[in-house]
This record gives sequence, structure tokens and C-alpha cells, in this order.
Amino acid sequence: MCGIIAITTSSKVNVSKMITDGLKKLEYRGYDSVGIATINNGKINILKDAGTIDKVNNRLSLENLQGTIGIGHTRWATHGPPSRENAHPHSDCTGNIIVVHNGIIENYLELKENLLKKGHNFSSETDSEVFAHLMEEELKQKNHELSFINAFKRVLAKIEGTYAITLIHSEEPETIFLARKDSPLVIGIREDTKFAASDIPAFLEYTKKVIVLKNGEIATLTPQAVYIEKNGFRIQPKPVIVSWTAASAQKSGYPHFMLKEIHEQPIALRNTLKIDLNVINKASSKILDAERIIFLACGTSYHAALSGYHQFQRILKKKPVYKVIASEFESYSHLFDEETLIFAISQSGETLDVMKALSPARKLGASIISIANVVDSSIPRLSHISLYTKAGPEIGVAATKTHTAQVSLLARLALQLEYDTGLVEKNEFNQNLESLISEIPQVTRSVINQNEFKAKSLASIISNQNHAYFLARGMSIPVALEGALKLKEISYIHAEAFPAGESKHGPIAIVESMFPVIMIAPNDRTAKKMLSNAEEMRARGAYIISVTEKDHNIIERSDYTFIVPKTMSPLVRPITYVIPLQMLAYYAAVRRGFDPDKPKNLAKTVTVE
Ligand code: F6R
Repeated sequence: MCGIIAITTSSKVNVSKMITDGLKKLEYRGYDSVGIATINNGKINILKDAGTIDKVNNRLSLENLQGTIGIGHTRWATHGPPSRENAHPHSDCTGNIIVVHNGIIENYLELKENLLKKGHNFSSETDSEVFAHLMEEELKQKNHELSFINAFKRVLAKIEGTYAITLIHSEEPETIFLARKDSPLVIGIREDTKFAASDIPAFLEYTKKVIVLKNGEIATLTPQAVYIEKNGFRIQPKPVIVSWTAASAQKSGYPHFMLKEIHEQPIALRNTLKIDLNVINKASSKILDAERIIFLACGTSYHAALSGYHQFQRILKKKPVYKVIASEFESYSHLFDEETLIFAISQSGETLDVMKALSPARKLGASIISIANVVDSSIPRLSHISLYTKAGPEIGVAATKTHTAQVSLLARLALQLEYDTGLVEKNEFNQNLESLISEIPQVTRSVINQNEFKAKSLASIISNQNHAYFLARGMSIPVALEGALKLKEISYIHAEAFPAGESKHGPIAIVESMFPVIMIAPNDRTAKKMLSNAEEMRARGAYIISVTEKDHNIIERSDYTFIVPKTMSPLVRPITYVIPLQMLAYYAAVRRGFDPDKPKNLAKTVTVE
């Protein structure tokens, strides 16, 4: 939520163009308003307004601001609607202290009230602006000679909530001040230039050398140096070199990131499945040692967790396995102890709802395994074992390739558990593993190729509809949930998913002529019942769309069909079945005139509760 980028350089270039380009890469984090501030010859310049980066840039020429140090922000509104006043950067009363913030300052009302009493003038309704005024107030205190960094620390001690804060001051014209608590900040290092941003793609074009700032750390960046401290002690972090390429954060000829990312799935999954055997073995023995397992995630990652839940239940039999939406963890916190293993799944590795559940779980002795896409992000750092999807950066707000990469990693783990629990012999395990590794990339490629045109055609039929149902049974239910989420979040067609058997207990009431009902129908033990459910819907005039295999009888009862190949391993199904639904959502959004990369009201990384 909200994207931040800050740059300081000793090369004689204006940073505003790099900041504007960086903000474009962060636009998935929020895009209702945008702003940039630079310092040029000791003077602060600020340009900001409501609107997307392109629109505001066209209007105000953000990228032409002069100065070799600057900060920028793209906003996802929390406090105060999108407007010029509420857009970041914010400044103090003197206009010399400039701040951008991601997160929520929970005690801002009380702080603001005090500042108002002291005569400060506020220009916005945001919580973030208090930070600039608090800095001004600290620096005014003549009775103690405060260095700027000490004033910064004193202000941080006063605020409650979550933050990634970046600040510049006209009297410190080379230095960027940073601090993080629960909202991400990464530092990029080049010899003559230092970057700070909410996410790596913002500066990937210029450097791959990265330090991930940890909770509670404070940093100062000058063109030549990075200084980090925590609780008054200097930290000497080892920068990591990321493997992502600058091209991976570009559209490379595709009209949208989402479509590019759908097409990248074969490679993303192949890379993900190259996971180190030691890590898989360690994860498997942790799972087998635990008394109970709790899958924990949000949104699309939760749907991947549901696939894992079904598999683990099948394999682990009597061992209790739970599935918990992270924001609801409190109902399960009585289970957090040394015997519990939490399996957390998060693309960004920064979702606050997940982090808020993991912190108490860890304190109470639970073990944590996580799957994340962003290396060294907060959730892997809170985990005892971190598994990574190797999907590359995902820029489209709607998760696609990271979801199927999560599912493929869970499938890999399920195979290991089948062997480690004695469910299959060594030979069978080896065969299953080989077919999973060779089948997944190849089969995902053919699903994309065979269904993309169909998805586009179907989108033109259903884009006039206001509702859609997704029905499935058993292990296909996560696919139905994910299909419905994808469709509603980017095309704004109201979509809901149900266990197919449940549809007659209420949802069928609103079905009428041409109501789209999407049946996720593999030819397995659920086949006959899915056929009956399709008939029930058809009898009410529903438009039946099935995602199925070529020998399923449901094809004859469907108005529209996506055919996916029958895979050797049923573990691959949640991947092959979801891909046509991703494409359907994408083309429905485009057909309805919406930008699938930037659905309204959403942000990719949700760092508020
Ligand atoms: C939907 C989507 C979201 C995320 C959710 C969790 O397409 O992307 O539902 O899955 O916000 O995010 P992560 O996986 O980063 O924890």
C-alpha cells in the first residue's frame, strides 16, 4: 500500500526522471495520487496531485524537477480522500522538512491536536503530515542541541502504528533519512547513488545490490554511504544481489503486466520446482514432527493454502490440519504452542495480517514455514524455514504466476510427504517427482495456448453480465474461489464461489436466463455430481461454462467449454484449471474497459490491518 522511492546521487543528473520511472514500477501499490519533492541549490521543490502517475506527470511534468536528491510517493488512500492536499510528499510549516510515508500512524489524532495547540498549520487530512510537524517541533527545541538524526529518532519514538518513512531536509541536501516498522523498505546501492524504495523493481534498472531494511532499523543514505542502526547500535548488513532482471519488471511488448505474468507461468513454475532438496527435506520433517498444522494466508495466497490444506489432510490423515484466513487468526490462537506448525503463504512476504498472526505464534513457540516470492521479506524472516517461489517480480495487482508457483511448491512438498509417510515407495515417488517437474511447465504452456482465444471470446459474452457463480467440489474448490476472486477484482463483475452441492441451498435462487455459472469439473470422483449440479443450473436458464477434460459428459451440457489436458498427477490440477479463469478475468476486464493491472481500491501489498 503506497509506493515510496528516494534517490540521492553525486552524478550530476536530476533524479526526478528516475523517481517518476520508479514510481511507475510501484504503481501496483496504490495509484490514486502521486507526488515528488527534490532539493535543488538548497531549495525544496514539490509537485503533487490526485490521479495516476501518467496523468499527473503529463499535467505537472514531475520528471523535469531539478535536483540530485528527491523522494516520491504513489498513494493508496487511508486517511483523507485522494486530492492534491492529501497527496504526498508532506511538509512542515516552514516547508523545509519533507516526508513520504507508507503505513498508518495510529495515534496521529492525538499528536495532531498537540501540534495544533502549538500553532502548527496542517495542509492535509492525512496521518502522515504529523511526522513533518513533529520533526519541526523537535528541531525547534533550543534547550538541547539535537542533530537531525536524533530528532528523527525522537519523533519515531512518539509515533504508534506502522511505517516506512522517508524524509529529506533542505539543510541536509545530500541525505535521505529512513525508518521502517512493518511496512517494507529496501535500499539499493550503486557507487555514486543510493536508493530507497518500497520494492526492488523501483530501482532494478540501476542496481541489483540490495539491503532489506528490517523492522526497527533507521538508515541514512548519502550518495557515497549507507548507515544503518537499530536501538542505537550500528548494523553492518550484507547486501544481497537479486537475480531479478530489469526486463522482468517491464511489460516487454504485452499490453498489461497481468497478461505477461499469465504467460510467464511455465517458466515461473519450472524455476520454482528447482528447489533445493535439503530445504524440502527439512520442511517435510518439520511437518511430520508437528502435532498440528495451520495454513495461514490472505486472498489469492489463501486459495493456494487451501490446495495445500487438502493435500496435507489427504496425506497426514489423522493429524489435524487447519486453514485460517490470517486476519481471523485470533479464533485459532489458542492452538499456538510448541507443538504447532504454522504454514504461512504470502507473495509479497509483507502482508500485515499474516505478520500480525506470526508474531504471537512465534512468541508462543510455534514453528513457522513460509512460502514467499520476495526474498528476505518480513514473513520469511519470521519463519524457521523459508521456501521461495521463483516467479520473478509480479507487478500486476491480481496475483497469477505467484499463485500457481505457490501451488506447485505445495505439490512438490506433498510428493515428499507421500514418500516420507510411507504412502508411496521410492520408485513411485521418483516417477511422480519426475512427471511433476516435466509435466507442469509443459502442460501450463499448452493450457495457455489452447484456451487464450476462447477466454477472449467468452469475455465478450459475459462482460455484459453483472454476476457469475463458480462451482466446484472437493479439491477443486480453491480453484473456484480463485476464479471468482480474479473475475470480481479486475472486471468488477460480482462473482461468488460455492461448493457445487451447496448451490441449491440458497445461491440458486438468483439464477436466471444467461446467468453465467462456471463449473470446475475434472473427470474424477466428483464428475457425476458436478453433472447433476450443472443440470440444476441449466434448468433455471443458466449459461453453463465448464472447465473440464475432454472425456467429461459435462461438455454436452455446457454452453461454453475450456478443455484442459488430463494430467498424470492430480496435484497439477489446481494449476491447469485456474489458468483459463485467470485469462477469462483478464479479458473480461479489458473488454469492460478497465485496467487489469490497477484495479480500483486495491493495492498489491497490503500493509494495513
Ligand atoms: C488477489 C491478490 C490478493 C493477495 C493478498 C495477499 O489477486 O493478489 O488477494 O493474494 O493481498 O497478498 P500476499 O500474497 O502478498 O500476502
